[in-house]
Formats: sequence, C-alpha cells, structure tokens
Amino acid sequence: MPEPTDKLWGGRFSRPPARITEQINNSLAYDRRLWREDIDGSVAHAEMLTEVGILTSTEGRAIVDGLVSIRNGLADGSLVLDEAAEDIHTAIELLLRAKIGPAAGRLHIARSRNDQVTTDLRLYLKREATVLDERLRLFEEALIDAAEREITTAMPGLTHLQHAQPVLLSHHLLAYVWMFERDRGRLRDWFDRADELPLGSGALAGTTFPIDPELVAAKLGFARVAANSMDAVSDRDYVIELASAASLMMVHCSRLGEELVLWSSPDVGYVEMDDAVTTGSSIMPQKKNPDVAELARGKAGRVFGHLMALLTTMKGLPLTYNKDMQEDKEAIFDVLDTLDVVIPALELAVRTAVFDRKRMAESLKGDFSNATDLADALTAQGMSFRDAHERVGRLVRNTIERDLALEDLSPEEIATLIPEGDALAGLDLSPEGCIARRITASGTSRVSVQRQIDQARARLSIGLGSTVL
Ligand code: ARG
Repeated sequence: MPEPTDKLWGGRFSRPPARITEQINNSLAYDRRLWREDIDGSVAHAEMLTEVGILTSTEGRAIVDGLVSIRNGLADGSLVLDEAAEDIHTAIELLLRAKIGPAAGRLHIARSRNDQVTTDLRLYLKREATVLDERLRLFEEALIDAAEREITTAMPGLTHLQHAQPVLLSHHLLAYVWMFERDRGRLRDWFDRADELPLGSGALAGTTFPIDPELVAAKLGFARVAANSMDAVSDRDYVIELASAASLMMVHCSRLGEELVLWSSPDVGYVEMDDAVTTGSSIMPQKKNPDVAELARGKAGRVFGHLMALLTTMKGLPLTYNKDMQEDKEAIFDVLDTLDVVIPALELAVRTAVFDRKRMAESLKGDFSNATDLADALTAQGMSFRDAHERVGRLVRNTIERDLALEDLSPEEIATLIPEGDALAGLDLSPEGCIARRITASGTSRVSVQRQIDQARARLSIGLGSTVL
C-alpha cells in the first residue's frame, strides 16, 4: 500500500485511505492511456511557466528534460508506471520526482488535476478523432469502389422490405457513403467545438499566478482558451458529443450490417461474404456465418449504452468538478475502441463482398417494381396520376391472377384494361428501362449515380479542421 506521501494530497491526512477507497478511486487502470497527452500538457505548461518567469530557466529545463526522458522511457518500456499511483497524473509526477528530485514539485504551480485531466482528454480525443476520420474515409472509399464496380447492376429497391422500384446496386451502396459523410461532418463540427484549452483554469476559479494560457494553447495546438474556468473544469460536453456522433456512426454501421446479413442469407443470395469476414459452426459443417456484419449491428448497443451512461453521469452534477466525472473515460475509450474495430472490419467485408448480379436480376423478374413507370407513362400522356395509379393497380391485379408479369404484356393486352395504353408501344418496362429514366440528380440512372460517385470521391479529401458548408 502506498504511503500517504505518495499521494499528491497527503499533508492533510494522518492515515492512508482504506484499501476499498483506493480501489474505487483508482483510475490508473484506464487513464494510463493518456500518458502521452499528460506529458505533452506538462511540457507545454512548464515551458510557459518558464517563459513568463514563474520557473527559473534551470528549473524549467530540469522539468522539461525530465518529462522528455520519461516520455522516451515509457515509449521504449525502460520505465513503467507505478501501479499503486492513484491516476496517470500522479504516476507521471512520481516518475518525475524520482528522476529530478523535489524540483518536480514546481511543475504543478498554477495547475490542478481538474484542468489537467480535461486538457489531457481533449488532446487525446482530438487525436483519436483524426484517426477515426481517416478510418471512415477509407471505409467510404471501399464503398465508392464497390459502387463503381456495380454501376450496371440492377436490384430491387425496397420500401417496407417489399419490392418497390428497381435501382442500381451502386446507388444503394452510395447511400451509405452519404451517411458516413454526415458522420465525418459531425466529427468536423465536434473538432471545432472541442478545440479549446481548459488549462489555466486551476481547480475551478482561475489562478493567482500571472500565467499565459494562450501560449500553452499555441504549443498544444488548441484553437482557443476556455472563456470560463468554472465551465472549463466541469464541462464534458465534448465527451458526450463525441459519443453521440459515434452512436450515429454505429446506427449506420448497424444498418449496413443488417443488409449484409439479409443479402447473404441463402433465401436472398445477393452477396457472398468472403471467408475472411465469416466464421463457421462447431456443429453444422455447411455453415458460413456473417459474423462481422452481425457484430457491426450488435456492437451498436454498447456504444448507445455508453452515451446514456455519460449523459446520466453528468445530468445531476453541481458545478464544478466532481469525481463522478472520472467515469467519462472508460465509456468514451470503449466507444472509440469499438469503432476502431467495427469500421475496418466492415470495410474489409465490403471490399471482399462478391455480389450476385444474376440473382439480383432474377428477383426483379415479374416483381411489378415497374408499375410506377407504367403509371408515369400514362400520366405523361395527360391522364391524372390518381387515375393512372388506379388503372395500373387493376392491371397488376389482373396480371397476377393470370400468373404473368407486366413486362410480358403487349401494348394490345395493356389496352384491353387501359384503352389509353395503346399509345405506350415501345415503353421499356425492363429494370434497365426503369432505371435509365430516373435522371434526376439524386436518382438511380447511371448518369446520376456516376455524378454522385464523382461528388462523393471529391469529398474524401476533406479532413478534420476543414471548413465545409
Ligand atoms: N482522475 C481524475 C479524473 O479522471 C482527475 C483527478 C481529479 N482529482 C481531484 N481530486 N480533483 O477525473
């Protein structure tokens, strides 16, 4: 058990805390992943304290050199964190004390762990968001590549899971690109708001020392300094917002996962998932299960759960810092860890998916998904759309009763039920015909979809920190 002097706050206490108190309070097990950011923040703080004359240049150099060698030591494994330390801030300060002696105590001038922890976390999340943005970009690229390959593949477009109108598979895949583009947009918005330095707020009220937080912000790459110290130490909006943006990403991953599960079911058979993204059964030798797609769907729940946990933790907290807020880390780390595997796994699933073009064409045969086009054609000749809808509906019923398909009917046969229909000779009711007519910009015609592909590709170069409308 550590001595009271191993705490950063031992003086006030005559006895160490109970073991169970240590246990409930300890955060090193998970906040250790902030070690780089903790050191970066401390180096910037120490340099600033030196530049404004609070630390002598000898003190400042000793602290900064000590921190740099701790960073190297932790990176190459020659140094380890003291597992008994309460949190990462304590663990690094203990290492510094061991390295440079009591001068280490001068580092914490004009700083509290309250502004330190949220500085570390902002730095960490900004870096992680950049990685996440890149993962999303690569995933979108895989979807766009697949869309390009499937630019002539027709498939049933569904509403209510019923055949509605034929679409290009390319169009369907691109729909996900736009979802993930919005996700990347949310990351950009988040980044701009999160890009704020809390250091300099002290415990809550600011500090009595003549510090220069702007200088620290510039050193650490923050766009601005927080305006209100009480808000700065107690704000976790940026954690919740990131979990919220991540939850929407998981909604999108989950929907795509669900489609891949459905499409790879032998009853549908639109896609063959690669061995690389499937697993077998321990009892049924024939099985090939779409686990990656299922887990992309299944893991959404834990991310939403973390969002709820974060909201609930924060909702009743009076200003300013409260220890409850330490619970933010495991939640947001797990959110990021989840996306870290889900997005590349789905990317691989999409990259390796083999779409069964014939099967899709088969399921369009005689499915009446061309009925809208017949009604549209009648309307184009002057009939009201409501009348056209009614007549085509009757024709569909009659055709189903005769076990035929709309595309099998000659204009004369159509004309027996719809007298105006004899003007429709030459109307192409094949899926390709229906698709080619949908030339509106967002529509499913090949020209429209090609334009969407070009637009989507152009957006891929937009990164975090870019301002986009
Ligand atoms: N480990 C804490 C957290 O993650 C930071 C330390 C703040 N401690 C304190 N006694 N105010 O929130």
